[in-house]
Amino acid sequence: MADEIKTIGVLTSGGDAPGMNAAIRAVVRKAIANGVKVKGIKKGYQGLLNEEIVDLEKKDVSDIIQRGGTILGTARCSEFRTEEGQQLGAEICKKHGIDGIVVIGGDGSYRGAQALSKHGINTIGLPGTIDLDIACTDYTIGFDTAINTAMDAIDKVRDTSSSHERCSIIEVMGRNAGYIALWCGVANGAEDILLPERYDYDEQGIINNIINNRKRGKKHHIIINAEGIGHSTSMARRIEAATGIETRATILGYMQRGGNPTCKDRFFASIMGAYAADILCEGKTNRVVAFSGGDFTDFDIDEALAMKKDISEYQYDVSKALSM
Ligand code: ADP
Ligand code: F6P
Repeated sequence: MADEIKTIGVLTSGGDAPGMNAAIRAVVRKAIANGVKVKGIKKGYQGLLNEEIVDLEKKDVSDIIQRGGTILGTARCSEFRTEEGQQLGAEICKKHGIDGIVVIGGDGSYRGAQALSKHGINTIGLPGTIDLDIACTDYTIGFDTAINTAMDAIDKVRDTSSSHERCSIIEVMGRNAGYIALWCGVANGAEDILLPERYDYDEQGIINNIINNRKRGKKHHIIINAEGIGHSTSMARRIEAATGIETRATILGYMQRGGNPTCKDRFFASIMGAYAADILCEGKTNRVVAFSGGDFTDFDIDEALAMKKDISEYQYDVSKALSM
């Protein structure tokens, strides 16, 4: 192994996700075990362009597997969307002797990896996002921690909502995807679950549901609203006016991205990180690591980015049936 690949880099990019540190640790330790040197690139593609590059040894990734956030830092970098930025990034890699990079992030970050690969730097993407919105993989690092954090928070809001006999709209993250909303909606037993993929703007239907539930003696009414729909505060005002029932909006926000990763996130990050290091050291490029069909695998980035993903129709139907 590692006949040609002597040094690799690792960076985290886009929104941080719990488990990114476990992935960094796995990349570093597996690459070193393969006889390859590792450099950490700080603050995503912005740090690459600023040459914020440090050597990483096994000891540098001690005591991080349990920590949220990313020890390398992360950023969104508009310069890297340009041809000049990508070319400069590739030149900086060559200057620092970096033959290949593991990019941990979402599908935006994969596009940066795809560009670097076209400029002669081997790249492997790792799915790091709480949103679960990467089509080629059934699992993304950070999702499990985020949904457990959100689920606990929603349980707490439900306690106070029942005490006050209020309706609560709780907005969860996910950008344009409704996976966090669907999972929490089902797991928290919400009365309504609003997903961007299925939202029909039938607010009157929700209002009727609240009024009917109250007539039947329900003390709370929990609506899980996805960030992709948003407008929770104005929705709460309209619902209160139409139902006469006190209605509050809670936007969970960035707490969903923080905290110690769950066992599942640590495990997936560790296996996926090691897998990425292995295929990068073998000389593969323009690939993304995925969990698909019950096993770890990898796809060509171009193919992965062309894939489409949607909420399962059956899971959505069940979520509706159970919230009746
Ligand atoms: P995520 O990786 O979580 O989807 P973003 O979409 O913000 O997050 O992408 C993270 C970073 O990846 C961007 O700030 C940018 O530096 C880089 N990136 C995104 N899209 C492209 C693109 N089309 N070409 C090159 N780089 C990109
Ligand atoms: O992709 C993760 C995520 O938290 C999304 O759920 C959200 O839409 C976005 O990042 C927020 O990004 P920022 O950190 O730039 O506000």
